[in-house]
Amino acid sequence: MADEHRESPEGAAAPTAFALRWEEPPEGPVVVLLDQTRLPAEEVELVCTDVPMLVEAIRSLAVRGAPLLGIAGAYGVALAAVRGFDVDEAAESLAHARPTAVNLGYGVRRAAAAYHAAVRDGADPERAAAAALAEARTLHGEDAEASERMAGHGRALLDELLPAGGYRILTHCNSGALVSGGEGTALAVVKAVHRAGQLRRLWVDETRPLFQGSRLTAYEAARAGMAYTLLTDNAAGSLFAAGEVDAVVIGADRIAADGSVANKVGSYPLAVLARYHHVPFIVVAPTTTVDPDTPDGAAIEVEQRPGHEVTDVILPHAPAAPGAEAALGVPVAPLGTQAFNPAFDVTPPELVTAIVTERGVVAPVTEGGIAELCDRSRSG
Ligand code: MRU
Repeated sequence: MADEHRESPEGAAAPTAFALRWEEPPEGPVVVLLDQTRLPAEEVELVCTDVPMLVEAIRSLAVRGAPLLGIAGAYGVALAAVRGFDVDEAAESLAHARPTAVNLGYGVRRAAAAYHAAVRDGADPERAAAAALAEARTLHGEDAEASERMAGHGRALLDELLPAGGYRILTHCNSGALVSGGEGTALAVVKAVHRAGQLRRLWVDETRPLFQGSRLTAYEAARAGMAYTLLTDNAAGSLFAAGEVDAVVIGADRIAADGSVANKVGSYPLAVLARYHHVPFIVVAPTTTVDPDTPDGAAIEVEQRPGHEVTDVILPHAPAAPGAEAALGVPVAPLGTQAFNPAFDVTPPELVTAIVTERGVVAPVTEGGIAELCDRSRSG
């Protein structure tokens, strides 16, 4: 595949490569992923022929980001069904591949429910598998539609909150086409602002330890022709202090019933900074990311990742040593150093200015507002 990102200067637009697709070659159906651990160095496809491969791709972050995890989970169930594996076993291992993004379990459950409903209706395994695949495709399409709607609502909200004349938006992690059936969540909003000629600058947090900001968001921003600047996560404070940030716009992995938002670690400090500097802190997520069964932030399970992601700077595209579990890293701490490596943190609702979903905006962010959103969601 062409490595076009290096030739994409500000102002030139090139679509982001696909994130995930279902294919049916003669050897049998597969889930094809763009291996996100290899970006931006190279665009490499990862062809998953079975569920264990897909589970490993989820764990290693080859496929990642809340909405895409849901889509991947649904196609994973379909893959098991079409290839004649045990669907419930597949669903169980997929749903538990990562714990925080609620979309993963949601996607898995939807495809598994479609499969079981078909079986109950007397379908043979082939037709039941087709039902699971159809559900995965539906979810994929719904996510693309949700993305477009979020982009519209989010742009309108920024126009309402900020004076005209070009916005300087700070984002964290990656929430674009690489995590979605469409253009993404938070980054879809930024893209809409950019297309409307209102984006003065996108500030991109590099997002330690795995660099989803510098590797993935900068990749998407460059391809979209945005004016963007990369910063280390801990440089954000200086930017706020200098009055250089008009809004923070980020995604979410899980939103609890009280409006607490789990997102990539480093989001909460941004919310604190934003409040101190009177800057709107906006969360963009589809309603599939809202989990009414998780009462509050304390109940959100935060994934803890291996310490070597912190003690070493991981070069994901470097080959793993034979027998090694992970790609090679450059040590940046003495051998044996213990590391604290939560993948996410939780921002309390009182620090969130608004939550933008495909069904509209929740502001202020309260338990009642979230409940109303869930009701709207259920009533279609
Ligand atoms: O660990 P990752 O890369 O899967 O984390 C992803 C994020 O934290 C995103 O910000 C989140 O999924 C929202 S993007 C839709």
